[in-house]
Amino acid sequence: MNIKVYHSAEEIGKAAAAVFAAQVITKPASVLGLATGSSPVPTYRRLIELYQEGIVDFSQTVTFNLDEYIGLSKDHPCSYHAFMQENLFSCINVKPENIHIPSGDSDETQGASYDCAIQEAGGIDLQILGIGNNGHIAFNEPQDTFTMGTHIISLTESTIEANARFFESREEVPRQAISMGIGSIMRARRILLIATGKAKAEAVYRMAKEEVSPMCPASILQLHPDATIMVDEEAAAMLS
Ligand code: F6R
Repeated sequence: MNIKVYHSAEEIGKAAAAVFAAQVITKPASVLGLATGSSPVPTYRRLIELYQEGIVDFSQTVTFNLDEYIGLSKDHPCSYHAFMQENLFSCINVKPENIHIPSGDSDETQGASYDCAIQEAGGIDLQILGIGNNGHIAFNEPQDTFTMGTHIISLTESTIEANARFFESREEVPRQAISMGIGSIMRARRILLIATGKAKAEAVYRMAKEEVSPMCPASILQLHPDATIMVDEEAAAMLS
């Protein structure tokens, strides 16, 4: 695990977007693993600029998102489908048929087909991740064991609390989500995890410095051969 400290979220966005751009330039049909939430937004913003400047072409790129809320339709404004359209897909030339996001319906069987689709696409070349205040990656919440495949999970109180900011009220936050499992994430050839702000400092410390444990799912990244943790000074505060 390689940890890099930056001065701001914008600086991280530029650096992460440069890694994504290089990936797509050197392999146009790259398979990109994408996340939602606040952490990847500066990266997506910079990638859109690079596309508009004619530097990156996403016409052959395939994408797989990490997760979606159960019970929200694709066009619900708080769904991750809507988030991705607004923050990235509507502004670049990725083909709609190359975009994959788990569905918000409660069909358990879609997990296995989602994992198969990732494998059939050749596996994820580059995965972007955020980290929850409780150490989750995607919606792999702290629990007794790591779950390898894409699965439906009940969100913890900490995640519901943290994500309430995207909804009108806490009550509106869905209680369940479908999430890519630890297996597909760990099989990604390269991972960038972004964490900013002091609320992430403890999770970053537990991920990087404590023993690998499903109680802090992000700690599994200690065992990944090419994981870079991109943090600002606040998120890095407990590391030194
Ligand atoms: C989102 C996701 C989550 C977030 C995490 C951090 O697709 O998988 O794990 O990355 O909850 O969220 P932010 O970036 O909003 O702090």
